[in-house]
Amino acid sequence: MSEKKVALITGAYKGIGVEIARQLGRQGVTVLLGARSAAKAEEAAAGLREEQIEARGLELDVTDSGQINAAAELIQREYGRLDILVNNAGVYLDHLGNNLDVMRGSFEVNVFGPQALSEALLPLLKASPAGRIVNQSSILGSLGTLLSNDMFGSRSVPAYTTSKAAMNAWTVQLSIALRDSNVKVNACHPGWVKTDMGGESAPMEVSEGAETAVWLATLPSDGPTGGFFHKQAALPW
Ligand SMILES: NC(=O)c1ccc[n+]([C@@H]2O[C@H](COP(=O)([O-])OP(=O)(O)OC[C@H]3O[C@@H](n4cnc5c(N)ncnc54)[C@H](OP(=O)(O)O)[C@@H]3O)[C@@H](O)[C@H]2O)c1
Repeated sequence: MSEKKVALITGAYKGIGVEIARQLGRQGVTVLLGARSAAKAEEAAAGLREEQIEARGLELDVTDSGQINAAAELIQREYGRLDILVNNAGVYLDHLGNNLDVMRGSFEVNVFGPQALSEALLPLLKASPAGRIVNQSSILGSLGTLLSNDMFGSRSVPAYTTSKAAMNAWTVQLSIALRDSNVKVNACHPGWVKTDMGGESAPMEVSEGAETAVWLATLPSDGPTGGFFHKQAALPW
């Protein structure tokens, strides 16, 4: 079994995901870049390899149970354990309308996908001396923040906010279930980051946006579990 840590990051061919992979890779972690397109995953991994990072692309649509099982089998076969899982893949679909299909689609990617993937990978995370799950959430999933801030004016954003709030609640539940294990689970708000999702007006670059997830992915044994963080500060649920 390799001495190097192994990390899987979902939605990792662009945006914050590939930057999380880059920053973990620079710390000597072997990074597996999940993406819906095998070609895009491999292209992003090749780019990181040019930066002397041990990187590999993985076809992984988080809503596809066959691809989830295939990823778990590959990691078991080739690495024997998983040290870090970053559930980074996410969608913001509210611009498509306020209806049940948008709500379902958001939950499929932002909630059920990470849940299914984490469940499939738990035996491998438990095989690590220090398993870490990072759920890439959003401040928009914080009910306390939504109640105290008029972030959207009269605009309604039910699917994204509800799905990220569900991701937060699940983070707490999973951390409780794993309390007696070596696996820590935390939720992360990256900040408002310049990506395809965040848009051009966002104030943060991806290098800064990746920092919170990378910190949570590499927490020491006395670090927190079951929390929601931005830049090492706890956020309100
Ligand atoms: N940017 C911000 O300001 C901001 C703020 C708070 C939270 N976040 C969160 O940060 C995460 C990364 O977002 P980003 O800003 O980097 O946006 P992004 O560049 O749009 O990245 C989103 C990634 O998720 C992938 N994805 C979507 N559906 C998927 C699926 N079913 N299976 C696997 N991958 C899938 C996308 O791949 P495809 O291109 O193939 O769809 C893409 O790689 C998201 O969870 C987002 O909610 C971002």
